[in-house]
Amino acid sequence: MVLTVAVLISGTGSNLRALLDAAADPGFPARVIVIGADREADGLAHAEAFGIPSFVVPWEAFDSREAWGAELDAQLKVWQPDLVVLSGLMRLLPREVVAAWSPNIINTHPAFLPEFPGAHGVRDALAAGVSETGASVIVVDDGVDSGPILAQERVPVHPGDTEAALHERIKPVERRLLIDVVRRIAESELVLGVRPDPN
Ligand code: GAR
Repeated sequence: MVLTVAVLISGTGSNLRALLDAAADPGFPARVIVIGADREADGLAHAEAFGIPSFVVPWEAFDSREAWGAELDAQLKVWQPDLVVLSGLMRLLPREVVAAWSPNIINTHPAFLPEFPGAHGVRDALAAGVSETGASVIVVDDGVDSGPILAQERVPVHPGDTEAALHERIKPVERRLLIDVVRRIAESELVLGVRPDPN
């Protein structure tokens, strides 16, 4: 059985694009069935290019995070995906939405969590002057980038790196981790919500 995936974005969706390319291989065990965004994100063009339905729940159109989240949740429920992937969705989901999809909701983050959580993971790593940062894929919980880590890898910071240059070095790692995590979930190699046996 193929794992069905909904992807939520805010930006260019380059990581989404990589997942779509991977899923275009008939041997890949997951399919992106819908793409959602909190704005008219550039990355929605990938939905069109792949003939995948999309929806926008504009943040500004709602009075509260809860009202916005309820509409986002309603849109997702129309599609009943097995897995929700936050791929550059730059909004915190309200607790009710996390609860509705947990543990089948994952997020990519451009830092080696728990280092540098939040909206500026790349900028914060640069500001801290570290020599390496990383990329992580986690399960979403009620905190900010605090859920169980599914995969992560280190990425070096080079002298003179700008935020954009460092982010462009991190993203290919994020893409590889994301595609691998989705594949492992689809193949039940990775079971969400089950804590690894410490022994
Ligand atoms: C990615 O690096 C993703 O990890 C990050 O936004 C970028 C989206 O890039 N998300 C966060 O920082 C969430 N805290 P993309 O739109 O090109 O895929």
